[in-house]
Amino acid sequence: MERFLRDESETRALGLELAARARPGTVIALIGDLGTGKTTLTKAVAEGLGVAENITSPTFTIIKEYGSGRLPLYHFDLYRIGDAEELYALGFEEYFYGAGVTVVEWADRAAALLPQDALTLRLAYGRDDGERLVYTERTDDADAAL
Ligand SMILES: Nc1ncnc2c1ncn2[C@@H]1O[C@H](COP(=O)(O)OP(=O)(O)O)[C@@H](O)[C@H]1O
Ligand SMILES: [Mg+2]
Repeated sequence: MERFLRDESETRALGLELAARARPGTVIALIGDLGTGKTTLTKAVAEGLGVAENITSPTFTIIKEYGSGRLPLYHFDLYRIGDAEELYALGFEEYFYGAGVTVVEWADRAAALLPQDALTLRLAYGRDDGERLVYTERTDDADAAL
């Protein structure tokens, strides 16, 4: 299943929808090249959860936690992750299987560690500058999200 995100506002709309559906333990795994909108989408999820803090990319810290929304938000950015050991050292399981909502950028770098029921969304560039494409490869819950 796929959906065109014709401009940033459509990416934001998807993020708000995902936030509305999010439950404790929801894990949203984002896969896609630099600039395809992973952080933009994450910011909209945060907005939808009512997170008051400014969301900044946790590229160097790997994980940032925001507690001011309807549910806690755990934002991972695995761009600079070395190996799985680093994720174990961060205690990723406490987040992935915790009471909050987890969004993971560059989730393909930890594919084997993602929960079975993670919602995996792939982002890609569209036909012009402002367009992106989001798609899923499964035909279950992940599809329903689009
Ligand atoms: N449809 C769209 N959805 C999301 N971002 C878009 C879109 N069109 C253009 N952009 C731009 O693309 C960039 C996406 O950046 P970002 O969300 O940081 O990507 P990533 O985290 O995947 O590297 C932003 O500069 C944003 O303004
Ligand atoms: Mg990013």
